[in-house]
Amino acid sequence: MRKPFIAANWKMHKNVQESVDFVKAIKDKLPDPQKVEVGIAPQSIALHSMKQAAGKSGLKIIAQNCAAEYSGPYTGEISLRGLRDSGIDYAMLGHIERRRLFNENNKAVNKKVLAAVQMGVTPIICTDEEMVQKEINGEIHYVFSQLMSVLHGISMDQIKNVVISYEPTWAVGAGQHANPTMAEEGCRQIRRTIADVYTYEIADKIRILYGGSVNPANIKKIMGKPDVDGVLIGRASLDVDSFLQMVQHF
Ligand code: G3P
Repeated sequence: MRKPFIAANWKMHKNVQESVDFVKAIKDKLPDPQKVEVGIAPQSIALHSMKQAAGKSGLKIIAQNCAAEYSGPYTGEISLRGLRDSGIDYAMLGHIERRRLFNENNKAVNKKVLAAVQMGVTPIICTDEEMVQKEINGEIHYVFSQLMSVLHGISMDQIKNVVISYEPTWAVGAGQHANPTMAEEGCRQIRRTIADVYTYEIADKIRILYGGSVNPANIKKIMGKPDVDGVLIGRASLDVDSFLQMVQHF
């Protein structure tokens, strides 16, 4: 049984005070962490304060990125050591905005995934695809090859400790509406890929999240799909009421 995972990606919104106030407003209203995992990915400057504000609530705090290095001379980067020492549970790696705006390629994401797994920070590996890639391929071959590149060198044991997300670019931000059927199609394709490359047993245990225009009105339908184990939510996660409506569904 895969535990549902609802994760908010706050991108570059909210300062430290706003982030901490948000945690204080929601932390006593979260669902049972034994049944549902809830996490928030704030800007890096707020990670530590949010972790402290979350206390024993079970709320997971997620980094939006990290370096492929434990620590060292890498100006401007976020170290895995820093994340681990602050008790950060997850690092989101290879988000479409990192790829598009900051030229992160599969090789760079792969290095980060390997380093995170080795350092004990669980990666949420982001995969994406454009509508044109989907239409040309008929199936989701692009996600397949992207996934294989970013998982290069990840062993049978290590793969058990990753989360994967599927964010089709047409549904992210101001794009088209989230489509539960397409969400399921993408997540299923990823699970099949994991089954082919690793094993069916492993694929059956891995959590796969869908991201792109998730909101209080569509979350139940999307998470009702068999291969969608959770969601990555952007805009609709920024407001306390909207956030609580989504997590309290479960
Ligand atoms: O990581 C989630 C994000 O990219 C989706 O954004 O605003 O479409 O929910 P949004």
